[in-house]
Amino acid sequence: MLELQNLTYAPATAASAVLRDVSFVARAGQPVLISGASGSGKTSLLDMISGLSRERSGQVLWNGEALSPRQRRWITGMVFQFPERHFLGLTVAQELRLGLRRLSTEAQEQVLNRVGLTGIDRSTQPERLSGGQQRRLAIAVQLLRGANVLLLDEPTAGLDWSVRDDVLQLLAELAREQVLIVVTHEPELFKSWACQRHQLKNGELMPMSTLP
Ligand SMILES: Nc1ncnc2c1ncn2[C@@H]1O[C@H](COP(=O)(O)OP(=O)(O)O)[C@@H](O)[C@H]1O
Ligand SMILES: [Mg+2]
Repeated sequence: MLELQNLTYAPATAASAVLRDVSFVARAGQPVLISGASGSGKTSLLDMISGLSRERSGQVLWNGEALSPRQRRWITGMVFQFPERHFLGLTVAQELRLGLRRLSTEAQEQVLNRVGLTGIDRSTQPERLSGGQQRRLAIAVQLLRGANVLLLDEPTAGLDWSVRDDVLQLLAELAREQVLIVVTHEPELFKSWACQRHQLKNGELMPMSTLP
């Protein structure tokens, strides 16, 4: 269980606090969907949860224990909005083996099956995959790392509708077993999701108003 308690993000370089007193609890089996307009602080929130940036005040607890930003890097797995900008491997296999050099072919195939990339050529360059496949690969890398909390920044952006629905279904499946937090500017795409819904507005998190 991940718990955010009154997290405030106020970088010295911002005129005022970007996020104020953000609190919620995220559990496996109950994904959290956070929506907000562009610039509302969605990516900043994920950066703070994952320890990439530091909160001004408040804390993040994992199973009741407060974690430093550094500790949060270990337990969280970020799937960036543009995964292709973050790939380091020259091939799919290399990308999967980052930090896990001895990862067996079997284990690679297993995780690829889990994210819906069954049968993909593992010598393909990650950049050559489609947008949906790149997201799946980025998720696979985080699953291999053993991330306890999956953080997804705009997972549907730039995907056409058929691919989008497949990615949404994969996320719903993963959310049964993992803590999963999605931020999006298009919450209407998640209409059929069973999840906690929140909205970021003026730096504050509030329950989602009724969908348009
Ligand atoms: N380190 C920072 N310094 C100054 N401003 C920041 C910093 N981090 C985020 N911001 C500001 O916070 C706001 C929210 O940004 P962001 O989290 O990227 O929003 P979103 O992902 O919802 O589009 C933006 O106005 C951005 O300029
Ligand atoms: Mg963003």
